[in-house]
Amino acid sequence: MDNPVAVIQYGPRPGILDLGWGHPRPELLPVEQWLEAGQTTLREHAWQALTYGAAAGPRPFIEWLTDHLGGCDHGSTQPSEVFVTNGASHGLALVADLLVRPGDVVLVDSPTYHLAFRTLLDQGAELVGVPTDDQGVHPAMTAELLERLARSGRRVPMLYIVPTFANPTGRCLPHERRVELVDLARRAGLTIVEDDTYREMAYDGPAPPSLWSLAERGTVIRLGTFAKTVAPGLRLGWINAEGGFVRRLTGLGYINSGGGVNHTTALTMATFGRSGAYQSHVAATGRHYAAQRDALVAGLRTCAPDLQLSAPAGGWFLWADLPSPITASSLAPVAEAHGVAYVEGRRFFADGADGHRAVRLSFSMLPPGELQEAAARLGLALETVRQRAPGRPEPAHDPHRGG
Ligand SMILES: Cc1ncc(COP(=O)(O)O)c(C=O)c1O
Repeated sequence: MDNPVAVIQYGPRPGILDLGWGHPRPELLPVEQWLEAGQTTLREHAWQALTYGAAAGPRPFIEWLTDHLGGCDHGSTQPSEVFVTNGASHGLALVADLLVRPGDVVLVDSPTYHLAFRTLLDQGAELVGVPTDDQGVHPAMTAELLERLARSGRRVPMLYIVPTFANPTGRCLPHERRVELVDLARRAGLTIVEDDTYREMAYDGPAPPSLWSLAERGTVIRLGTFAKTVAPGLRLGWINAEGGFVRRLTGLGYINSGGGVNHTTALTMATFGRSGAYQSHVAATGRHYAAQRDALVAGLRTCAPDLQLSAPAGGWFLWADLPSPITASSLAPVAEAHGVAYVEGRRFFADGADGHRAVRLSFSMLPPGELQEAAARLGLALETVRQRAPGRPEPAHDPHRGG
């Protein structure tokens, strides 16, 4: 077999149960089902599956997707409101490229998906965290922040947020806040870029309506992806936006030159969806991910009872507050020495000034037994740090973590 590091982004580290990565459990990736969908697609569409594709994406995919979104979200999405991308990260890069100018302020949720920061910084934006409380973004205080920024002459074209089964907290923004936020954005001329990556990873009942479904057209752009529901290697996702914005995307030079993004994969996804394989796969993997969540939560409640956490109703992440005065950076090397790793909470704040006592724990990659063992190791690491003599300097620690 090839060296996995030369083929894939991340290979396991010997001896470490890694709760840092928001990646799928390898055994749950649908290798055989995708192979079958690929063969059916090539037989059905023949050469058309392999030539340059339609600018916004192939029609069979867009039609399946809009039907599907009608079932898993409220309200309807029109085919003219879809643009196929290489995933949510690509969607964010494209949207930011069209909306943001160097020197603009981009508002981001606090905390939010840390790997979105680089994409936004690539546009020369200054990132400012929105005011939040324990329910998430606070619309009235965000309105005040927008007024202050406007008074100081700053342009604020967009707000980035993951309101549903968020990365990193696993939480959902409450319905009233969704309505207030969308209303604020409409009044302020602010575009909300809603990253809806985890909508279909719902374990305890349906996900709340998206901001996209609640808003007037032109206020929200939604980013979707099949990275979590099917496989990240597909690099397949989409943007939902009003027709005019989709036309700006289809008019981009590189689309004009190379045709629609990821044409063959999008056609295969249409086959995978229409055959029912997608729905069965999401249902089956959802049961596994729910069991993994339960194993990690139960393990932590038993082995690390002074961690403060609540079980998320969906997604892949759990956010936990460490007992005072332990910080995520002081615990990290001790946790590694005990064979468990996580991402420090401060990485999910645009200015890194908050989240020092929080950690993000992902339950997506490991089976339940290993998650219970990881929880036990974390409990031992906490105990070790607690017993450390006060005043001892904390070792510097900042491992890169993705997903
Ligand atoms: C909130 C969020 N957005 C985007 C991504 C990346 O999505 P994609 O692989 O489709 O680019 C992730 C992956 O961890 C994520 O958690």
